[in-house]
Amino acid sequence: MALFISFEGGEGSGKSTQAGRLVRALNDMGVPTQFIHEPGTTNLGRHIRELIKGSPWGRETISHEAELFLFSAARAELAAKVLSKASEESRLVIVADRYVDSTVAYQGYGRRLPLNLMDSVNRLATQGIMPDLTLLLDCPPVEALKRVGQIQAGLFDDGDSVRRDEAGARRFEDEPLAFHRRVRSGYLKLAGIEPERWLVIDGTKDEDAVFDSVWEAVTGMEKFRHVVEQSESLERDRAPEHLGETTLFPLSGSQRGC
Ligand code: TMP
Repeated sequence: MALFISFEGGEGSGKSTQAGRLVRALNDMGVPTQFIHEPGTTNLGRHIRELIKGSPWGRETISHEAELFLFSAARAELAAKVLSKASEESRLVIVADRYVDSTVAYQGYGRRLPLNLMDSVNRLATQGIMPDLTLLLDCPPVEALKRVGQIQAGLFDDGDSVRRDEAGARRFEDEPLAFHRRVRSGYLKLAGIEPERWLVIDGTKDEDAVFDSVWEAVTGMEKFRHVVEQSESLERDRAPEHLGETTLFPLSGSQRGC
C-alpha cells in the first residue's frame, strides 16, 4: 500500500509550499510520488474548483449545503479515478494538498453543518481511503490572513507552479475572522481526537524550519522506510549491473567496456 500524507491548514498557512517542497525532496531521493490538490487534480475537480473559487454568478453565494456536496463530488471523483489505484501501489508516496479533513474543518466547524451527517458523506466520497499522516500547519488566522493579503491579486503559491484563480476568487479568504477561528479550532480538535494520524506543526516558523519538521515526521515513519526499500529494489532490478549478474548470457568483457 502507498504511503499517504496530507497537508491541512487555514488560509495562508503555507501548506501548499510545504507540500510542493516535500514532493521535490522525495523526487530528488528517487521516490515516486503522486501529488493531489483539492479541489482539483481530476477534470471534474478542476471545474468544481472554478465554480467554488471563481465567481460565475457575480456576488451571489452558494448555499453551505451545496458547497459541501461540490467539495465531496470533487473528492469522490478523485478517490474513484486516482486514489483507489494509487493507494494500492507499494512504491508510491501520495502527497495531498488538502483532503477530507478540510471539509470537516471548513464546512463542519467553519460553516457549522452537522458533523454526524457529514461523516457519512465523507466516508462515501473517500471510499474509506484515509491518510497515514496528516500534517497540520497551525497558524493564528490574523497572522495567516496577512500572508494571504500579500499574495492577494488572485495568485496562490502552489509549490511547483503558480496557480491562478479567477480575479476576486476569495470566497473563503473574505470570511469574517470568527469563521477562520472556528476552522482553526476545528482542525486542532481533529488532531486531538486522532493524535496517531495528526502532527501539529507551528506554521508561524520560517519556511525552512517548518520543512525540517515535515521531513523529520515523514522520514521517521516505518511505512516510509518500506516505500524507500521497495523503490530501491525496483531501481536495483532495473540497473544494468544487476542484469549482467543474473542473465544467462552475460556480456563479454569487451562489451562491458573493460
Ligand atoms: P486552497 O487550495 O487555495 O487552499 O483553496 C481551497 C479553498 O477551499 C480553501 O479556502 C479551503 C476550501 N475548502 C473547503 O472549504 N472544503 C474542502 O473540502 C476543501 C478541499 C477546501
